[in-house]
Amino acid sequence: MEKTQIIFRKGNNVILRPVEEADIPLFQKWMNDPEITQYIRAIMPVSLAEERSWFDRVSKSASDKVTLALVDIATNQLIGTIGINNIDFRAGTATTGTVIGDKKYWGKGYGTEAKMLLLEFAFNELNLRKVYSDVFAYNKRSLAYANKCGYVEEARIPKHFYRKGRYWDKVILAVYRKPWEELWKKYSKLKKK
Ligand SMILES: CC(C)(COP(=O)(O)OP(=O)(O)OC[C@H]1O[C@@H](n2cnc3c(N)ncnc32)[C@H](O)[C@@H]1OP(=O)(O)O)[C@@H](O)C(=O)NCCC(=O)NCCS
Repeated sequence: MEKTQIIFRKGNNVILRPVEEADIPLFQKWMNDPEITQYIRAIMPVSLAEERSWFDRVSKSASDKVTLALVDIATNQLIGTIGINNIDFRAGTATTGTVIGDKKYWGKGYGTEAKMLLLEFAFNELNLRKVYSDVFAYNKRSLAYANKCGYVEEARIPKHFYRKGRYWDKVILAVYRKPWEELWKKYSKLKKK
């Protein structure tokens, strides 16, 4: 159970807050789980020491990244992590990535809500112009939730990744401020105060 509720952004079902040292064991568990790593670039085993050094990097303020933990409001449990990476203020671009590590939360709208909150920060506070993500072509859930947040396919690099014994396309999705703003207006109406 979370002890003190730290809130960076709050939706109806999910809170985004800074990552904390106590999150490290769950992050390590998720980053070694093949059901999760099949969808992300990291495939090597992750030791506690490595997870700690990742935490040391992302928990310090940096000009090119923001890393947050996802907490389910109903249970106050840590369920995943979300981040803005590769921030390039000159180009007005960045990438985003999300891992809901607690698999029982997949497909229940938490990712969409968290990404909408993150994009609000990216566009309205960081003044970014375009946010993009790389997705493995077989990650249908990720493609679907990104589309719901306004991302569209910008490019497809054929047979770019090797996973599950074969090559797969890399899908590059991007969302721009204007189309996202239209979705945010609708989302804000549903958002509890
Ligand atoms: C990808 C991820 C962040 C999405 O978050 P989520 O909370 O599961 O997604 P949501 O529930 O908000 O939206 C998922 C959408 O995909 C749909 N979906 C679920 N499974 C699907 C499937 N197998 N095929 C197609 N669509 C699917 C859902 O129906 C939902 O759309 P709907 O609300 O219109 O019905 C989360 O599933 C996750 O962390 N997965 C493992 C790691 C990962 O893939 N990270 C992203 C790497 S690019």
